[in-house]
Amino acid sequence: MQVKSVNILGIETSCDETAAAVVADGKIIKSSVISSQTKLHEKYGGVVPEIASRAHIEKIYPVINEALARAKVSEDDIDAVAVANQPGLTVALVIGVTAAKTLAFVWEKPLIAIIHLHAHLQSAVLGKKELQLPAAALIVSGGHTSLYDYRSPLEPTLLGSTIDDAAGEAFDKVANILRLSYPGGPSIEKAAESGNPKAIKFPRSMLGPGSLDFSFSGIKTAVLYYCRGQDMKGEDKVGSMTSEEIADIAASFQAAVIDVLIKKTRWAAERIGAKTVLLGGGVAANNQLRARLQQMCDETRPPRKLLVAPKQYCTDNAVMVASLGYYKFKAKLFADLTLETKARSS
Ligand code: KG4
Ligand code: ZN
Repeated sequence: MQVKSVNILGIETSCDETAAAVVADGKIIKSSVISSQTKLHEKYGGVVPEIASRAHIEKIYPVINEALARAKVSEDDIDAVAVANQPGLTVALVIGVTAAKTLAFVWEKPLIAIIHLHAHLQSAVLGKKELQLPAAALIVSGGHTSLYDYRSPLEPTLLGSTIDDAAGEAFDKVANILRLSYPGGPSIEKAAESGNPKAIKFPRSMLGPGSLDFSFSGIKTAVLYYCRGQDMKGEDKVGSMTSEEIADIAASFQAAVIDVLIKKTRWAAERIGAKTVLLGGGVAANNQLRARLQQMCDETRPPRKLLVAPKQYCTDNAVMVASLGYYKFKAKLFADLTLETKARSS
């Protein structure tokens, strides 16, 4: 007898991507639709909450309909609706949550609440055949930099997180200082390719030996001082810098951020005796970070296995939401229609 697969509709609107996906049994991606708002926020150099909210309202139903159509499924084939309800921009989250609640109510299907950061973890393990536990997991995105002790998809334990700016936020702000295009991560990475990572010694904030928390506001300020002078009264030198000088700043900044991420992930892995390291979130698209983390895993005796989210699932998407939704579905961890959004995760 053939066992019927479990189809989860995932919905994601925590920041500036309106996304919906249908995933079967937590791993078979039947569709993934993402409407990115990058163009709308570009000229502001960052996400403007009101603009994000309005765009989510416009796109949410077309995106969900497209996800169902591409998956060739109808409401009858959907077993549950999973939605990211935290953390994120409240005015953005509420659009996805309202859509999910409405569909769950009208279709009479279970509703599943997903923590966005746990979904990012899911994108690192998605489709991987072998996962030896425990794993130390690093999630680096525009809003978060977090380390987890990962032993199951449902209960990752937070080991440390940023006390100020997230890694991706630092990339975005430094790109802004260097007048590189938005979003900053990819443009810093591109500029850094031709730069010398040792040209400028930017600070590596470790917050004390063994600390698994992060701080990236200091390095952002250091880049600002480097470009405008300590008292911020000097002229902005960026306009008159050569592309080589910009490349050196980008490469030195990127190397400093990656040094911190690698060292703390190693500490976390040692502390929990990790057999595997997981990497996810928007900044995980960075090739230098991927290569340096791989090197760190290879150097350990015995070597640790590194599992990285595929590039298209590093940045925000609904596949990771639907995939994690499957495990909550199996565990019957359902939300009710009073589900609320939370700007910060509890
Ligand atoms: O996970 P994500 O899509 O959104 C949040 O949940 O925040 O991450 C977006 C962040 C942005 O800050 C962007 O600059 C950064 O990921 N990012 C990168 C790269 N691609 C995206 N950072 C460094 N290198 C990249 N190649
Ligand atoms: Zn994210």
